[in-house]
Amino acid sequence: MTILVTGGAGFIGSNFVLDWLRQSDEPVVNLDALTYAGNPENLASLDGDARHTFVKGDICDRALVDQLLITHQPRAIVHFAAESHVDRSISGPGAFMRTNVDGTFTLLEAARAYWGALDGEAKAGFRFHHVSTDEVYGSLKPTDPPFAETNPYEPNSPYSASKAASDHLVRSWHHTYGLPVVTTNCSNNYGPYHFPEKLIPLMIVNALAGKPLPVYGDGQQIRDWLYVTDHCSGIRAVLAGGKLGETYNIGGWNEQANIDIVKIVCKLLDGMRPDPAGPYERLITYVKDRPGHDRRYAIDARKIERELGWRPAETFETGIRKTVQWYLDNPEWVARVQSGAYRDWISQQYTAAA
Ligand code: NAD
Ligand code: DAU
Repeated sequence: MTILVTGGAGFIGSNFVLDWLRQSDEPVVNLDALTYAGNPENLASLDGDARHTFVKGDICDRALVDQLLITHQPRAIVHFAAESHVDRSISGPGAFMRTNVDGTFTLLEAARAYWGALDGEAKAGFRFHHVSTDEVYGSLKPTDPPFAETNPYEPNSPYSASKAASDHLVRSWHHTYGLPVVTTNCSNNYGPYHFPEKLIPLMIVNALAGKPLPVYGDGQQIRDWLYVTDHCSGIRAVLAGGKLGETYNIGGWNEQANIDIVKIVCKLLDGMRPDPAGPYERLITYVKDRPGHDRRYAIDARKIERELGWRPAETFETGIRKTVQWYLDNPEWVARVQSGAYRDWISQQYTAAA
């Protein structure tokens, strides 16, 4: 038995692969194009481990995907590969349409051909697990109930529109062709190996470097934060027991305003790595808001709990402390991802926003 993971050198994908191989000996074939967000160093602990096969390649490359499926005969595809950063989707949506829409279409077609040629138990057991986001549901008002699986899709950014399109493709490949799919829609993740263009790692690395902590708009936008290994355990639960053609929301029951997240990170750093220049909160800087910024996301995770018994293992207090500690312990990782391409993006984004 083998699984094919796409995007397994990114933040969640690499945590998923590491977590998978900590719990099982089932091999993983990991297809990743190594865009700016993909970092093989995340998987360095698997060097020489025969259970992990890394393939540098593009999910839009149909011939490559066909060849991997024929060669490795996976029992499942777990599809993480995507362009994932909302701000980048606003300044350059093309890459999001290519990877998130066209790439998912290519994978679905390759999976359909492969699965169609299987028989017996292999055919019955095959799964296409599509990893998606809560952003497809749009933005909540302060008193709205959290997103349930039945909420209408109302994506607001090029990123969320591209993910919504991919969710619809996955749904229709099940409905029309019978492809055995499951989809998970998860809230904001945080944890180790998170690329420092996203809120929590950006705040940690900027604070440690004595740089401004850029908070968009009034900082009152709300996200529902989940520690990344809890997302991984949710995906494993749905892959193992989710009903075909269904979607499952995954979230941390942990709504927080951005400004509160930034202050929590500052306070933790004040305790764990005090700055002689003073409390880190002095670095908080309000900057221009994100265009079309969604005000609030929150996940109703009762379906996955009811049907599959999944609950997050970490509280925000335990998860954020582990996360800050990981960044304190891994300055080389941070230094290496802050490459030329990364610096160009940061200067483009934050010069324009200042
Ligand atoms: P990420 O940007 O950290 O990683 C994406 C990975 O995909 C990278 O390794 C990149 O090299 C790879 N990739 C990009 N284009 C590719 C292509 N054309 N072919 C092959 N590989 C390609 O993203 P992430 O935060 O780890 O998110 C993973 C998935 O989870 C995405 O589908 C995202 O929409 C979804 N998701 C993310 C979050 C979150 O909070 N980060 C929450 C819910 C859902
Ligand atoms: O909800 C799930 C989504 O969470 C995933 O689908 C996306 O892939 C992931 O990137 C994330 O999207 P967000 O836009 O919510 O995450 P980000 O870390 O970019 O921003 C979190 C919040 O913090 C958001 O309201 C914007 C704000 N922000 C972000 C940055 C980078 C700031 O105030 N300042 C910043 O510098």
